[in-house]
This record gives sequence, C-alpha cells and structure tokens, in this order.
Amino acid sequence: MKKIIILNASPKNNEKSVSGLLSLMAKEQLSSKGIPADIIDVRKTLTSKDCTAAFNAMHEVHAMLIVFPLYFFCMPGMLTRFLEDYAALLGSQDKPQKVYTIVNCGFPEPEINEEAIHVIQSFSRHINALFRFGIGFGSGGMIMGAKEAPFMKKAMKTLNDTFNLMADDIRSEQLPPLKNVYIKVGFPRRLYFFGGSFGWRKLAKQNGLKTCELYRKPYQTKS
Ligand SMILES: Cc1cc2nc3c(=O)[nH]c(=O)nc-3n(C[C@H](O)[C@H](O)[C@H](O)COP(=O)(O)O)c2cc1C
Repeated sequence: MKKIIILNASPKNNEKSVSGLLSLMAKEQLSSKGIPADIIDVRKTLTSKDCTAAFNAMHEVHAMLIVFPLYFFCMPGMLTRFLEDYAALLGSQDKPQKVYTIVNCGFPEPEINEEAIHVIQSFSRHINALFRFGIGFGSGGMIMGAKEAPFMKKAMKTLNDTFNLMADDIRSEQLPPLKNVYIKVGFPRRLYFFGGSFGWRKLAKQNGLKTCELYRKPYQTKS
C-alpha cells in the first residue's frame, strides 16, 4: 500500500497554525482516498534533538508532502535546516519517491509562493526524488478564521480537488507533467488589508504601543 508522510513545518510554537490545519485536511482527504498518511511536526522533531525516527519514516514512504508558511518570500530557516540534515544523513533516494508541497502566505496573491515551491523542487532533485507539483495558497490566515464562510467555498473546493489529484498521482505508475496549483480566496483585497491593519493596531495597543510606533525603524542609522 502506498503511504505518505506529511511534514507540518510551521515554526509556530504551541499555537494553531495554518500549516497544521492544512496538514490535517490533507491527511483526512488522502486517507479517505486510500492513501494512509502520518504527520510529522518539524518544529517538535527538531527541538527533541533526535530526528532519526522522523528521517527513517520519511525515507520509507512512497510520497512526501511538505507544508509550510512563506517567510520573507522563501521557506522558514527551520525547515531549510531540517531538509538539509535529512539530505545529508540519508542521501539520495534509491526508489522513486514523489514529493508535493503546500505553501501558504499572508498576502492575497498565491503566486508569490512560486519561488518557495521551486526550492522544494530543487531539494527533490537533490535527493533524487520526483517533484510532482506544489500548491500556493494566498491569504492563508483565512483558512483558520473563515474556512466555512461562503466566500471560501471555491478555494476550499479547489483545495479538495487538488488533494484528490494528489491521491491519484501517488497511486499511479505514470508520470504525466503536472502544473502547480495557485489558490486565491475570493475576498475584496482592500477589505482584507483593512482587517489586517486593524489587527496590527489592536496588537500594538495590547502591547502598550501607539499606532505610530508600528512604523519605527529601530535599525536605521540617522543621517
Ligand atoms: C517572520 C515572518 C515572515 C513572513 N513573511 C511573509 C512573506 O514574505 N510574504 C507573505 O505573504 N507572508 C509572510 N508572512 C505571513 C505568513 O506566511 C502567514 O501568516 C502564514 O499564514 C502563517 O502560516 P502558519 O500559520 O502555517 O505558520 C510572514 C510571517 C512571519 C511570521
């Protein structure tokens, strides 16, 4: 039976993350399509200081799904370290393992995840695995806050359809070329940014700061 390991690679500590939720959704949908899935929490594994069991599990399976947030238009350093250690320890694959990724970002445009998807593509080449496709998800936070809202319906359907495509691809012996899938939430951009700014102002107040202090540039040298 073909199995998949899902890496939840949000660096968030002890709080709910979009990557965690996407990992659970992928596990549920892939399992329902006959692909058993286990989730590895990258942060917890790295902080436990022993990655052996996780690396062995990753090496054994037919497919790997790497789920992470976009950090500074790339992947979080924590995940880079984890994948570098994995590549160094277990080297290249001797069986054709398939690799998929989901990158979610704060900005509404899902295409800005493309470069980070390329990094996973390059990692796959490095370990001799077969990169199949990536999913770029814009306005990631919306999945946690408003998954059931009517304006999320189309995005959630595309996500579900893409999980089904992944299940079929894992099962198949063929390797047809597949394109990355970019999912945009159908929500007015200006309203989204208004909501985001409101959230930052609220956080500043909770931390005893004035709104103008959000614009401080503490490391800029005065001329
Ligand atoms: C340090 C840091 C850097 C970020 N960089 C970007 C970025 O370059 N572009 C973007 O759209 N969102 C960026 N974000 C927002 C996250 O990608 C977004 O909040 C995401 O939904 C978090 O996912 P998670 O809950 O799985 O950790 C950044 C967030 C943090 C904390």
